[in-house]
Amino acid sequence: MRSKIVAGNWKMNKNGEQTKELLRALSGGFPETEAEVMVAPTFVNLTNAVFQLKNSPIEVIAQNMHYAENGAYTGEISADMLQNIGVNTVILGHSERRAYFGETDELLAKKVTTALNHSLRVMFCFGEELEDRKADNHFKVVESQLKNALFSLDAAKWSNIVLAYEPVWAIGTGETASPEQAQEMHAFIRKTITEAYDETIANKVSILYGGSVKPANANEIFSKPDVDGGLIGGAALKADDFKAIINAI
Ligand code: PGA
Repeated sequence: MRSKIVAGNWKMNKNGEQTKELLRALSGGFPETEAEVMVAPTFVNLTNAVFQLKNSPIEVIAQNMHYAENGAYTGEISADMLQNIGVNTVILGHSERRAYFGETDELLAKKVTTALNHSLRVMFCFGEELEDRKADNHFKVVESQLKNALFSLDAAKWSNIVLAYEPVWAIGTGETASPEQAQEMHAFIRKTITEAYDETIANKVSILYGGSVKPANANEIFSKPDVDGGLIGGAALKADDFKAIINAI
């Protein structure tokens, strides 16, 4: 059985007080669920969030990290620093990191390797841009993103990987991939992993969908057999919406 996961990516939102408040609101009347629930506040609020959620089923995860162990990388955060404060999962490869901070597949391969060497769980994001889909290149783009960043890993490392397919044209735009488009791509991703590794690994890895998931569409998207949950941006900033999405799974 694959893990079902709902993760909230808070991006550069919520200061310390607001983080505390949102976590308090989320924890009150928290839905009964078998899904793993995660939230990713900004770096400066991670320590407090971990402390606040000490006895909670909600896991605190990070939005990014550097590939180096330590050293002269002003403004960056290492795997060890995350683990040291009790963070065990890191989002890597988000399309905003790729688009605004120049993160390439090659750089991401290094980050993934470092994170896994530290036994951090990696939530790896990828997805095509609108032009790729219009040109019918979306499968090719996704395949090359996976191949370049992940397919050199030893098979054993895959137990610590979660995938998040996020078509760039659906992120923060209000436009969602249809449940059929999501299912089609998720099935393609599993096929690609089967070819690169084997069916056992492909069937075990959780593949989340991300891109304008809301209470109104979560149910239908999550009902698809190869969609194992969601990575939620905007709707994760409102406790009621996030809880409704957790309920949908
Ligand atoms: P969105 O963001 O839900 O606001 O579209 C998703 C994401 O960036 O992970």
